[in-house]
Amino acid sequence: MAFNETFLEELRARNDITEVIGGYVNLKRAGRLYKGLCPFHGEKTPSFTVYPDTQSFYCFGCSAGGDVVSFIRKIENLDYVEAVKLLADRSGMVMPDSGYDDSMLKTRNRVYEMNKEAAHFYFSQLIDEKNRHALQYYFNRGYTFDTIKHFGLGYAPDSWDALKKYMNEKHYSNEELYKANLLRKSSKGTFYDNFRNRVITPIIDIRGRVVGFGGRVLDDSKPKYINTSDTLVYKKTNQLFAMNFAKNHAEKGFILCEGYMDVIALHQAGFENAIATCGTAITPEMARTVSKYTDTVILSQDADEAGRKAVNKSIEIFSQVGIKVRVLNIKGAKDPDEFIQKFGADRFKALIEGAETDTEYKLFLAKQKYDTDTSAGLADYVTEAAKILAEADNVKRDIYASKLAEETKVAKSAILSESRRFQKQNEKKKIKQTNRQVMSMQNDADKINPQKRQYKSAAIAEERIIAVLINHPDLIRTISANISEEDFVTVFNKHIFKALCEHINQGKSLNMSAFGEELTPEEHGVLAGLEARGRTLTNPKMECLESITTLKEEKLKLIKPDLENMSDEEFRNLFSNN
Ligand code: CTP
Ligand code: MN
Repeated sequence: MAFNETFLEELRARNDITEVIGGYVNLKRAGRLYKGLCPFHGEKTPSFTVYPDTQSFYCFGCSAGGDVVSFIRKIENLDYVEAVKLLADRSGMVMPDSGYDDSMLKTRNRVYEMNKEAAHFYFSQLIDEKNRHALQYYFNRGYTFDTIKHFGLGYAPDSWDALKKYMNEKHYSNEELYKANLLRKSSKGTFYDNFRNRVITPIIDIRGRVVGFGGRVLDDSKPKYINTSDTLVYKKTNQLFAMNFAKNHAEKGFILCEGYMDVIALHQAGFENAIATCGTAITPEMARTVSKYTDTVILSQDADEAGRKAVNKSIEIFSQVGIKVRVLNIKGAKDPDEFIQKFGADRFKALIEGAETDTEYKLFLAKQKYDTDTSAGLADYVTEAAKILAEADNVKRDIYASKLAEETKVAKSAILSESRRFQKQNEKKKIKQTNRQVMSMQNDADKINPQKRQYKSAAIAEERIIAVLINHPDLIRTISANISEEDFVTVFNKHIFKALCEHINQGKSLNMSAFGEELTPEEHGVLAGLEARGRTLTNPKMECLESITTLKEEKLKLIKPDLENMSDEEFRNLFSNN
């Protein structure tokens, strides 16, 4: 419909552009004009300009411009007539009597109001003490109370009419509420709450209006989500969740997730450029909206088959509006939310900055530590990086050395030789470590058989005999024909040998548990070690006899026998093998 020129002139005169825009944008005077941060695209330095003399505005960043009516159209998302109506109302003018039907505008505004009121209700329910379990649900997911308030999260109680009653009291009719999809209608025509016993995420449009809700179950029941279906103010194929916040953090591009919960978790962790679709795939409309703010999108799809499929389609749609897409490879978690819970925000940041493997991540962390703009900082960074590379395998070391060389302008050969130095150090360290381990095992055994240190050769021979006997009880005749417990030097081994022989002679089976009561756990350990060693002997009988000889020789050294008074036979026996 056309308005007559006098009416429009008066409308413009009564709605000074600086005043009207000042209601939306924080304007600062700069000589004859005003400047502010553009409400239509994300920026940090003001390029949005208002010219009082010509009653016009223009943004040097995104080329939005026009008069007061076009500003209102754009910012309120209204058609021409609706915008004129808004300005007329604002300035107390009566619209020309032309049969213009503004009922649509009124109904829409009514839906916005209802949604806002419903969001209040859901929030108040969340913090109501009778619904503690709902708040507990959010806390269990790691959301802070600040986050809950920031996103206006809520809870729809387990009731058929809690919202209905509340809204009726505020004079919203059931039919209206039904249109807003806050109520549903049964086949009999009775109305009941759409969301029941669900945690509620309000969906807020780019201008901060509540346009719908997503309601999630608190457990694993199905359906997991109930969402507002399309209404006068909500079209899910156009809506991007958290855009109202993210639009002010678009410098590094948007992080596009699949779920509301991912976005909320990311914002809480400091990634306020995270957005999500409302349960649909990316649409060209969404891509166009995104392109008003940035030319980069980081896809942070769930790490499942569906997620991977969505990636290709999204890349295509974004590329049609000139947006570059990067894809995050989320490993070790099903989605960004879980990733952050498991590995923390720093690791997610690293992922975003391109660090996907462990080595990349470590390099990333190293770089954060130093001021690589200074020579000293750069040198420290390269040294630490070389140390990290020393732990990587050869292929990785080579790849990352190349990258590092390119990044730091330090010769690759220098990086590699520095890395080799660390490799050598590591090897030395490892050898020392193994030695230390062996020593400590030795010490443990020595504690159990303290005489071993003093009578080393004898003790080793004794152990070998025991080892053979455990594994080959059938050799007991050969063994007892050549040696008896009296010949054992160390008390501990003598005790074990004696017990073993008794067991075998009584025909008892010789598993480790046979000694359960007789030995302490530590002694058991030693015995188990001997058993294991005995298993690998290639010729047990021979080894055993050799050990017997050794043991006897050792014993001889110790007892200093009274050779003078020995019989000839006894004397010969000292040196006999069998
Ligand atoms: N979705 C939906 N209906 C479902 C399941 C999912 O509309 N039955 C939409 C929701 O918008 C949801 C998104 O798909 O946010 C991603 O689903 P999912 O990863 O399962 O949900 P999250 O929001 O991440 O929730 P949670 O971490 O609790 O599983
Ligand atoms: Mn999730």
